Amino acid sequence: MSFFAKFLSYFGLKRKEVNILVIGLDNSGKTTILNNFKSEEEKFQEIVATIGFNVDKFKLNNLNFTAFDMSGQGRYRNLWEHYFKGINGIIFVIDSSDSLRLVVAKEELDLMLKHEKINSKPFLPILFFANKMDQKDSMSSVHICKGLKLNELKTRPWHIQASNALTGQGVQEGMQWLTEQLN
Ligand code: GTP
Repeated sequence: MSFFAKFLSYFGLKRKEVNILVIGLDNSGKTTILNNFKSEEEKFQEIVATIGFNVDKFKLNNLNFTAFDMSGQGRYRNLWEHYFKGINGIIFVIDSSDSLRLVVAKEELDLMLKHEKINSKPFLPILFFANKMDQKDSMSSVHICKGLKLNELKTRPWHIQASNALTGQGVQEGMQWLTEQLN
């Protein structure tokens, strides 16, 4: 950072840059959640499955976000670990209408938490979106919390937020929590 940028940042005149990783199983709603932060011109009109990953940049609250939207498809999940370095926070999205695959989401979460680059950062915050709350028979946040055993996350700041990425319900609230952690 240049001296001038540091000066602006010190006096709160420049937004802080943060990198976040957005992960979760395929079809959980990661790209749709991020679509909420795009301008009308940038918004995807039709959301299609992510191939590999997308990089999204947006301003929210007082932060400049760079979000790595990783594909959740099985064949691309091994890409996630290549983005663990240099991140300031994680968004983990769960499809709350997909009770059959909650156990798969738990396996992926455990794999990530065990990874040395994540394990060595016990204070890296994780925001969980219990997405698709609008779907009939969707699991409650409490149910998902138990299924993922989130109470076993000891030092790590975490928060679970029910959301409907299509209408944006719950999305801002979740991001408000993450912003507070990143500040
Ligand atoms: P991958 O790219 O395969 O990893 O998927 P993704 O997690 O990015 O999911 P994506 O945002 O592509 O959404 C998958 C489908 O779920 C799309 O058809 C979305 O319109 C739909 N969807 C996303 N969020 C919600 C939600 O909150 N409610 C409902 N009903 N549908 C949603």
